Amino acid sequence: MNIFVTGGAGYIGSHTVLQLLREGHDVVVLDNLSNSSKESLERVARLANKEAKLYIGDILDKELLDKICSENHFDCCIHFAGLKAVGESVAKPWEYYNNNITGTLNLLSALRDHDMKNIIFSSSATVYGDPETIPITEQCPKGVCTNPYGWTKSMIEQILMDMAKADSEWNIVILRYFNPIGADESGIIGENPRGIPNNLMPYVTQVAVGRLEKLGVFGNDYDTPDGTGVRDYIHVSDLADGHIKALKKITDNAGLCVYNLGTGKGVSVLELVKSFEKANGITIPYEIKARRPGDIAVCYADASKAKEELGWEAKRDIVDMCRDSWNWQSKNPEGYA
Ligand code: NAD
Ligand code: WQD
Repeated sequence: MNIFVTGGAGYIGSHTVLQLLREGHDVVVLDNLSNSSKESLERVARLANKEAKLYIGDILDKELLDKICSENHFDCCIHFAGLKAVGESVAKPWEYYNNNITGTLNLLSALRDHDMKNIIFSSSATVYGDPETIPITEQCPKGVCTNPYGWTKSMIEQILMDMAKADSEWNIVILRYFNPIGADESGIIGENPRGIPNNLMPYVTQVAVGRLEKLGVFGNDYDTPDGTGVRDYIHVSDLADGHIKALKKITDNAGLCVYNLGTGKGVSVLELVKSFEKANGITIPYEIKARRPGDIAVCYADASKAKEELGWEAKRDIVDMCRDSWNWQSKNPEGYA
């Protein structure tokens, strides 16, 4: 298939482009490189022995989207492009709503104009807010998001659902990712956050590599077995596989489908730290800090719908995730720089 990947130079995008190329698909990427570098795709090309075509540009640029959709015929678009830093979204709500929502509307308009109404969208478990039930099924109602980033995901989902309702020619797969970590097992591509990482695993690997002194653990008084927050960490390569599997729903003309992509297992902050230490033989100094505003205690998926309907399930466990995160960071202490 010919696949259009927005945000394909980023963390999850680059791992998915690698899988797509390995599966024999042709890939066209659009990325403005605002949170990535084209080095990721150069490395993907070396790993896959095949190149994705890269347009450096913005989903806010309607003319460029029209040009790309005129120059190529796409069987599906996988839409990763977006800003994703939760704290930054609180400080810059307009920028987040504009980039993520206006950008997605532009993209949908270009795809519709060129009669290419197939899209897979990167959503997030954040749309559940503080979930009503654990493990979280897709039936769990969407909740109150605690930040503009989360609202952009929730609102884009609503836009996609309304578009699918109004026009049955759209095939739309919404994938709600839980907490992606890890890296391709080669250690050649991986997560490359700009500045001090917000997320747990890149913080841990930067402590391990000596770029940061110690980890702050945000709260140990949650109602969880060890008091620290519980999440569903999922290996980015398993996540990438989920997108390949989701393509089948597109070719089946399945209309709108929503899937959780998680492992179904909850891991606490301290369990992740211990797994990392054990997997890699490195001690991670940490101190307990106050809770981080907006955090919830527990979040993990019921991922059985994706297993039943897509034939997808996560294959890699937390030890694999810790090993591969460290393999990437230790081989690339400064990331792609
Ligand atoms: P990332 O920042 O590494 O990748 C996003 C890519 O989109 C970057 O390469 C960036 O340069 C590009 N981009 C941003 N705005 C753009 C624009 N206006 N035009 C063109 N390109 C643009 O992030 P990621 O972790 O790979 O996330 C990919 C997608 O998955 C995002 O939509 C994110 O919200 C979603 N998601 C991520 C997580 C996570 O924890 N990483 C969890 C759930 C959902
Ligand atoms: C995980 C756990 C923290 C950093 C975020 C977004 C979500 C999604 C995934 C995009 C929590 C604790 C963290 C640290 C810590 N992204 N922690 N010290 O908050 O579950 O989800 O990324 O869609 O929308 O909100 O992930 O990795 O930031 O935190 O103790 O330095 O680690 O409190 O319990 P989170 P995270």
